[in-house]
Amino acid sequence: NDSGEFPSRQITFPLMLSVGAAVIGSLQFGYNTGVINAPQKVIENFINKTWYDRHQEAITKSSLTTLWSIAVSIFSVGGMFGSFSVGLFVNRFGRKNSMLMSNVLAFIAAALMGFSKLAGSFEMLIAGRFVVGLYSGLSTGFVPMYVGEVAPTALRGALGTLHQLGIVIGILIAQVFGLTAVMGSDDLWPLLLSFTFLPAVLQCILLPFCPKSPRFLLINKNEENKAKAVLKKLRGTSDVSADMQEMKEESRQMMREKKVTIPELFRSAIYRQPLVIAVVLQLSQQLSGINAVFYYSTRIFEKAGVEQPVYATIGAGVVNTAFTVVSLFVVERAGRRSLHMLGLIGMAGSAILMTIALALLDQLKWMSYLSIVAIFSFVAFFEIGPGPIPWFIVAELFSQGPRPSAIAVAGFTNWTANFIVGMGFQYVEELCGPYVFIIFTVLLLLFFIFTYFKVPETKGRTFDEIATGFRQTAAAGREKHSPEELNSLGADSQL
Ligand code: GLC
Repeated sequence: NDSGEFPSRQITFPLMLSVGAAVIGSLQFGYNTGVINAPQKVIENFINKTWYDRHQEAITKSSLTTLWSIAVSIFSVGGMFGSFSVGLFVNRFGRKNSMLMSNVLAFIAAALMGFSKLAGSFEMLIAGRFVVGLYSGLSTGFVPMYVGEVAPTALRGALGTLHQLGIVIGILIAQVFGLTAVMGSDDLWPLLLSFTFLPAVLQCILLPFCPKSPRFLLINKNEENKAKAVLKKLRGTSDVSADMQEMKEESRQMMREKKVTIPELFRSAIYRQPLVIAVVLQLSQQLSGINAVFYYSTRIFEKAGVEQPVYATIGAGVVNTAFTVVSLFVVERAGRRSLHMLGLIGMAGSAILMTIALALLDQLKWMSYLSIVAIFSFVAFFEIGPGPIPWFIVAELFSQGPRPSAIAVAGFTNWTANFIVGMGFQYVEELCGPYVFIIFTVLLLLFFIFTYFKVPETKGRTFDEIATGFRQTAAAGREKHSPEELNSLGADSQL
């Protein structure tokens, strides 16, 4: 299928059920990313009161800021640990069972956060944020891996984008629920935070009805009949010989690398190129500055003179969701590489607009509107490419043996960069004032250049073809290869 049309015959109920159940994990990640921002003031009040009850004196401003920053950012620290541990689970327990098991963490986190007020303990809140970060880190590995492995080749990008769609819907729900009038109030914030147990329950109900990854069954477990049965269900046809053939070919290539550890991944020359691409794409996603918006937009809008900053933030959440849907429908047609480049360059343009708006604000009051336009288009371009693509392309760049380790390294990179932007943005903003977005502009342009020269198109190619392409370039030695050449390598059956 080279036209990029959705092969609707391939969208079967078991496939949608499996992907749907998996991306509940993505929703959890998004929800917990967005949930902590709106109720900042009421939770700070709680910390303040708890402190007073314990010490009979008010907490100092700097201690309060520190405790708050820890509560916010320990989530990413949990994510770093979680994403790095992905490989420990998926090879032993399989993809589906790993997702199922990780819900224990969501329940523990919900309990810790939900009862923190009752117990008068902000330590419980912080511990809960860490645990739900662990869960989210695991999810950002498990979900794209499972989805990539159950999806038919022609739908891998579209279904992979559903991971990001889950994330952005989670953020949006959290932004709305977090409004004071809904659940962001003194009484209800513990409930708001513990709501994360609901999707966990739903996922525990749905996952048992979903099949295991057929690639895991065949390549890791050598259970050919089971793999075949699963594929028949997922594809809705009894003729799955093409899929089986491709997996067997991949399996044959993998004989010497059934499981590749993280140190082996770094040492081996054949993985160097895809590894660099995977890591830089994660950096391009986070160092684009997207989470400066999602963590601090209300404050950014306030500074830009917007009158109802909270609603502008929710507006950003809506634009975010809408453009993820756009990407979902064009990614199989336009391809990953071009959409990623379009997104990066568009974000760079938007960041320049934002700088103009902030710099001229004192002279021209209507610049506050320009800032809204700039942020909205920044977010829209992000979701066209840099949002969804880095998450699922790692599964595409590696075959079964190195995939879990590669996803762990990529995930760890992503969460670390997320943490750095989350912690650092406020300080850098104080230093640079209205020019803070110039930093992101420069980074975005660098990532654009990297993508242009280094990232091959993976659309419509089987895992085996992609891996073969990289193997051949590695074998061809130190000579430089353009992405176009790489595309043609091992991709003869692309038509
Ligand atoms: C991506 C990023 C995440 C960000 C989100 C915004 O999923 O990984 O950090 O918050 O997009 O939509």
